[in-house]
Amino acid sequence: MTPKIRLQNISKRFAVGSNVVPAVENVNLSLNSGDFVTLVGPSGCGKSTLFNILVGLLAPDSGGELHIDGKLVAADHLLGRVAFMPQRDMLMPWRTVLDNAILAAEIDGVPRAAARKRALDSLDRFGLRGFENHHPAQLSGGMRQRVALMRTFMFDRDVMLLDEPFGALDALTRAMMQRWLLEVWEGAKRTVLFITHDIDEAIFLGDRVLVMSARPGHIKMELPVPLPRPRAPDIITSAPFVELKRTLLAAVEDESRKAFAAMNREILPDPADA
Ligand SMILES: Nc1ncnc2c1ncn2[C@@H]1O[C@H](COP(=O)(O)OP(=O)(O)O)[C@@H](O)[C@H]1O
Ligand SMILES: [Mg+2]
Repeated sequence: MTPKIRLQNISKRFAVGSNVVPAVENVNLSLNSGDFVTLVGPSGCGKSTLFNILVGLLAPDSGGELHIDGKLVAADHLLGRVAFMPQRDMLMPWRTVLDNAILAAEIDGVPRAAARKRALDSLDRFGLRGFENHHPAQLSGGMRQRVALMRTFMFDRDVMLLDEPFGALDALTRAMMQRWLLEVWEGAKRTVLFITHDIDEAIFLGDRVLVMSARPGHIKMELPVPLPRPRAPDIITSAPFVELKRTLLAAVEDESRKAFAAMNREILPDPADA
């Protein structure tokens, strides 16, 4: 099968003052149509950088290649081709739930009345019926995330990228949102790349889990998740789940240690310099 999106040797360095910080280096990954792929890695490993490249907001360094449906494309070609939800929910506080939900569709050129009608029809699916005229400040964290997800789903694209969408939620709300997202995804059949730093979440949701290395990030491991769908909540206590978790924990732990050591080197003076 020709992958929907394929990245080959994608790198990105940032100039910070007089230093050059390599954020991601030689990333290779592909997303097949209908896949739910999760990406885990330690904080600061370049997950959001990769996300920004995939949505076309950031140009990678020269040397790498981006392919859509088997065709080599320029980086800015991705802009507007994938639906995305950034790490911060970016809801507009002055807009109602309904008007926040239609924002991306509206920018995409869908007439406001048509977008509103579609949004009204989707309120139940997103658990927001009765809240359409509320403002973001009146909502719980879980509801805000659902509005942001609804906006992302309403931007009708085959591929959807989500950057730690449940990162700020408490554990119970998060588990509920994960099950809900799978239900919505199973109905909508989109290709999803879901970024998280939570290993349980990565296994519970994904068809495949990609592990990113410490910065400069690259894909260090790719683990298929052969668990049946739909996934029941108690699957996280099953033997195959625990086995996958053991493998992933070891890989991520290794990288987290490296990331932590690098962070300490940056914060603490090197004793050799004293
Ligand atoms: N615009 C930028 N300018 C300079 N450095 C950046 C920029 N964006 C990210 N970085 C650096 O690149 C690295 C990766 O960041 P990021 O992609 O946000 O990581 P993650 O999402 O995995 O936590 C970090 O060291 C971060 O400080
Ligand atoms: Mg991030």
